[in-house]
Amino acid sequence: MDIQAAAGRLESYAADAIIVNLFEGVTDPNGATDTVDKALNGALRALIKDGDFTGQAGQVAVLYPQGVIPARRVILVGLGAPEKLTIDGVRRAAAHAILKARDLKAAHVASVIHGAGSIAIEDAARAITEGSLMALYDYRGQKSGQKPEAFPKRLDLVVLDEKDERAAAGIQAGMAVAAGVEIARDLANLPPNICTPAYMAQVAAELAQTVGLKVEVLERRQMEVLKMGALLGVAQGSDTPPRFIILEHNAGRDDLETVVLVGKGVTFDTGGYSIKTAEGMVTMKGDMSGGAAVIGALGAIAGLKLPLHVVGLIPAADNMISGHAYRPQDVITASNGVTIEVISTDAEGRLLLADALVYASRYQPSAVVDIATLTGACVVALGEGIAAGVFSTDDRLRDTLLASADFTAERVWPLPLFPEYEKALESQTADLKNTGGRMGGVGTSAVFLKHFVDYPAWAHVDMAGVMSTMGDVPYVPKGATGYGVRLLTDFASRWAARGKA
Ligand code: BES
Ligand code: MN
Ligand code: ZN
Repeated sequence: MDIQAAAGRLESYAADAIIVNLFEGVTDPNGATDTVDKALNGALRALIKDGDFTGQAGQVAVLYPQGVIPARRVILVGLGAPEKLTIDGVRRAAAHAILKARDLKAAHVASVIHGAGSIAIEDAARAITEGSLMALYDYRGQKSGQKPEAFPKRLDLVVLDEKDERAAAGIQAGMAVAAGVEIARDLANLPPNICTPAYMAQVAAELAQTVGLKVEVLERRQMEVLKMGALLGVAQGSDTPPRFIILEHNAGRDDLETVVLVGKGVTFDTGGYSIKTAEGMVTMKGDMSGGAAVIGALGAIAGLKLPLHVVGLIPAADNMISGHAYRPQDVITASNGVTIEVISTDAEGRLLLADALVYASRYQPSAVVDIATLTGACVVALGEGIAAGVFSTDDRLRDTLLASADFTAERVWPLPLFPEYEKALESQTADLKNTGGRMGGVGTSAVFLKHFVDYPAWAHVDMAGVMSTMGDVPYVPKGATGYGVRLLTDFASRWAARGKA
């Protein structure tokens, strides 16, 4: 769907549907809702007066003007209480309205900019763009037969003054972000026989071409030279070879601070010899969601032209069983020389991340954030579809991520890096065990990762609980959420702006 800013008045707009809104508790609307209502001889006020429409968030009604105004339909969407409207409320309202327009097969839609009274026009236009495009995401996968026609085809965000460029700027930003989310969702939704490490690398390379990123892809031989024994240990069980994907925005700019984003790219996690149950395995094509989020975020960051040097690292491998697979009690050596006794081959994500976190150090980053579907324990702690856990060695980094979580509504919740967790990782045969047992499983996983970090500001985001959804948020359809793209992109923009305010 194309989105653009257009100058005009909604009541005189010729479209298949126009979208207006109502705050909860308002009986005498103003703005576009008022002018459209007056043009309709009070049809909207009648709906309100009769109690058929209260303006509750998520409520949607459709009216048919029958030629009284040029638009064929009016979609009225509730915004909830005026004092409670947030940017995410705008995203959600836009999503509800555009999904109704899709159901009605409306090709050309025009909308008021929700929340423009209390939210900056640029932010509101961006939120509508994000909410609408993310809501319309429709993964068809390998379904045979003709793809149904996509509706709507065009959305105009109507501004009064044609010289007002704020809406257009917001739309551009929203489109860059939504495109990143789409890439991440596609990767995570694709089956593991298609979305292999090499496939992820190919998608990353194509994206790099489109948005102007530097890309480098390391193969097994190069990982051997780098002595990435932890990553290679996981990868050795699969006939599908691993890849280490490096994306770079503003490569070579030494006047900018550097941030490294690391994403777990396990394209399928069987658990290895510490095999998962059939039930536990059935969602594991999504175990590369962190890597997908980093690829999508790099795309969005490039699209937004953020003034920051950003490196994305995606260690990608399958975790499989075979005659050449790693096994429990193997001792492997990561690229910083730390030796690891494998207790569970199912604790593979931290092994991939270990070598990537070591690699991150070469960029002398001012911040490193990794994101991974790392532990079931994090899901037990925080629940499904509720929040990711965040650990950090630096308060400012954690606070920035919390601010981004608030702005994007991709929730994170702080968890502790207590030194006592180290005890559980002590090994008889190596520097570290790769698991610390059932108790405190999310904390011990984070403390494990910390052994591969030698820079001052590092954060780890465990997104195991939020990689997929049943579709409770209107702009996050069933399946892979694309979680992390918006969080990491917003984080990068805050980190770029830090100190400059
Ligand atoms: N990919 C899983 C974690 C996971 C579980 C992600 C559920 C999404 C949903 C990870 O590799 C894993 O298997 N972790 C183990 C660690 C344990 C062996 C210490 C776990 O959580 O059981
Ligand atoms: Mn695992
Ligand atoms: Zn895993």
